Amino acid sequence: NAQYLADYRPYPFILDQTVLDFALSPDATEVTATLSLRPREAVEDLVLDGGRGVELLSLDIDGRAPDPAHVRRDGESLTIAAAALPDAPFALTTRVRIDPSANTAFEGLYISGGIFCTQCEAEGFRHITFYPDRPDVMAPFRVTIRSDKPVLLSNGNPVAIRDGFAEWNDPWPKPAYLFALVAGDLVAVSDRFTTRSGRRVDLNVWVRPGDQDRAGFAMQSLIKSMRWDEDVYGREYDLDVFNMVAVDDFNMGAMENKGLNIFNSKLVLASPETATDADYERIEAVIAHEYFHNWTGNRITCRDWFQLCLKEGLTVFRDQQFTADMRSAPVKRIEDVHTLRARQFREDQGPLAHPVRPERYEEINNFYTATVYEKGAELIGMLKRLVGDDGYASALDLYFDRHDGEAATIEDWLAVFQDATGRDLTQFKRWYTDAGTPHLTMTEDWDAGDRGGRLTLNFTQHTPPTPGQDDKPPRVIPIAVGLIGPNGDEVQPTRMLEMTEARQSFTFDGLGARPVVSALRGFSAPVILDRPIDDRNRAFLLAHDTDPFARWEAGRDLAMSALMSLAQGGDAGADFIDAIGRLAADRDADPAFRALCLMLPGEEEIATALAARGATPDPDAIHAAREDLARRVAEAHADLLARLYDAMEVPGPYSPDADAAARRSLRIAALGLLNRIDRGDRAEVLFGTAGNMTERMAALNCLIRRGRGQAALQALHDRFGDNRLVMDKWFSVQVMAAPPQDAVAVATQLAARRDFDWKNPNRFRALLGGLAANHAGFHAADGSGYDFTADWLMKMDGANPQIAARMSTAFETWPRYDKGRRDRALSALQRIAAMPDISRNLREMVSRMIAAG
Ligand code: ARG
Ligand code: ZN
Repeated sequence: NAQYLADYRPYPFILDQTVLDFALSPDATEVTATLSLRPREAVEDLVLDGGRGVELLSLDIDGRAPDPAHVRRDGESLTIAAAALPDAPFALTTRVRIDPSANTAFEGLYISGGIFCTQCEAEGFRHITFYPDRPDVMAPFRVTIRSDKPVLLSNGNPVAIRDGFAEWNDPWPKPAYLFALVAGDLVAVSDRFTTRSGRRVDLNVWVRPGDQDRAGFAMQSLIKSMRWDEDVYGREYDLDVFNMVAVDDFNMGAMENKGLNIFNSKLVLASPETATDADYERIEAVIAHEYFHNWTGNRITCRDWFQLCLKEGLTVFRDQQFTADMRSAPVKRIEDVHTLRARQFREDQGPLAHPVRPERYEEINNFYTATVYEKGAELIGMLKRLVGDDGYASALDLYFDRHDGEAATIEDWLAVFQDATGRDLTQFKRWYTDAGTPHLTMTEDWDAGDRGGRLTLNFTQHTPPTPGQDDKPPRVIPIAVGLIGPNGDEVQPTRMLEMTEARQSFTFDGLGARPVVSALRGFSAPVILDRPIDDRNRAFLLAHDTDPFARWEAGRDLAMSALMSLAQGGDAGADFIDAIGRLAADRDADPAFRALCLMLPGEEEIATALAARGATPDPDAIHAAREDLARRVAEAHADLLARLYDAMEVPGPYSPDADAAARRSLRIAALGLLNRIDRGDRAEVLFGTAGNMTERMAALNCLIRRGRGQAALQALHDRFGDNRLVMDKWFSVQVMAAPPQDAVAVATQLAARRDFDWKNPNRFRALLGGLAANHAGFHAADGSGYDFTADWLMKMDGANPQIAARMSTAFETWPRYDKGRRDRALSALQRIAAMPDISRNLREMVSRMIAAG
């Protein structure tokens, strides 16, 4: 039952209005839906989506029940024969019963900690009632809720609120996936925002009583986001209220329901005692992301789910811009590239590779991926680079003008760029349709005698085959290049080269002396760049490049080259260790940047880099090499690191602002290295004295790595045992920081605890995701990591298929390992595939992964 992009066909009916009434009860909620429909052209059979758990109580058309012979029901839909429908506008009313208390999949209407809430993207609404559950069917919604819960929320503006009853009206036509309902014992942190054109908006962050003191940062993040979208994109909010709700059970991060954003509580609740700097940054970014969807996603939505990147890629790009403006732009860019490589390059390299706009899926929830989101955002960045900032601004204005209120496609998106800038984007479109990471090679020719010193850069591009796509024509690749002269000065500021052919050369004249090339500045395209460059020149770039990304990248390359050499039994080479020391000591550089440079590439990242070069990664050798290099760096720079550790202490009360967080990040990077040579003594002291969760968790991590974490773990548990979000950290850090040979045993022990509430997605992810993040632990040669994970995926699949399918990506790299590991991973995958009642979600994932065998 695969879905294909090519099969798109508009819905044969137009929906003018949706009216819903909910009589809430935990195990027997009744939903009455009245849909004002009219045939688009000739009357056809009316097909409504509706899941198995939706029990039909009654159905009528314009107040009369149709002949039962004209109504057909199967597990996924309800069909009313054309013969029973008028050739004119009509009202279809259904009454159904659903059981939110039995909903462990957290899709549709469910209960989390006593709060009724919904998650409808992508196809959850069909578990609430019968409906054309597709994004191109849009209507205004009027919703009434009857319940004894004190707070009753839905989309839009409140019409009437009284005891046990609420009525909401959302005038903006929307697809069902943006519907939301929340009912619970909630309290609000409230504020106000006045839009540029004078609309006064009531803002509320709804949390459980007692959590108010952890919701203030979320509110401030919302206000900043609203202002930023007005200032930078000219986008204003369009309702009288904006509500946000935090719930504990949530499959993903958050959801942009119109006027009623719902969040995983870990992306709302924060206090210095419970949240880390990274948590704060993430909260600010995700709140912005969901808010920005109001225009890129809600006012303009997607025609079908193949176009998911239309809203997600663009909204990720926008939240990245926002964070860059709120914090340090260079640091944000480096972080984003780092995640892109860790998650998306990894995905692109294996059996789950797919285009940014897929053409086929079985279960759309399996396509909320790093490729659709993060690579989707990179494509927007490339477009902006190609058409320039002004071209981008006018294309976006045109997009909002032309498509407001519509369900659009990638073709529509590219057309606004073509029309606004005159640029032909036919070749660019391949970035959306072709999967895989292009490999770009660069060689240099230097001719001192020609034209006052001529440098020629020769590029070739090649994209390896991905599942279903063997042959990839060349793409347009923006390559930002600068040149650094022998004395360290920039002799050529950034120039954007546009590569359109499989091989292409570019020249620079009048250079005098041979420069060092700074290539792919700002990571101007999501490609793997191969160039022959020695460690001496890498160290030169690390010292002198004016582009912060390229500078960091030079350090990264140096580290990688040292690691590769160590992993193959060679030596570390002095260049990396020297260069990293100079950078760490550079008082003029941003502490956050220095911290990023001190962070060695992770084991997964090293494995991905090796595999991209055609080598077979050995998880144990990689682990050993990385430990070895970290110790060498620590030994070589012990004094400097100790000084940094002390100097970067942030005095005074904790503040999550970017400058304070930057100092802490450098302090923690120093601690992580010193921890290899001080037996964990500094970490011990820090754990006992830290006044914030950032340093406390960093210290705990170090202590576990030194095998002396027990007392600290106990202390954390004693103090925060009743705080779910802190306990999630407590679970994950133990598995992540465990020595690889112990990781599965630690995970097994933790999984047996009574407080391992596995049905809670955060808790499950903490443990299983923690193991997957322990590269050499998950990939234990005896297959124990694979078996442990497979057992839990099978168990989870019965309760929550989305989470099981998502966590199954732990296996996505299996084909790149040695034969012993491959055999064990494959048999674990086959065991999952053979499960009798496997969900469509998990089945699609494992069969795609098995197909690579
Ligand atoms: N649109 C949401 C976001 O980007 C993600 C929701 C996805 N949910 C799902 N079950 N696939 O923030
Ligand atoms: Zn999104």
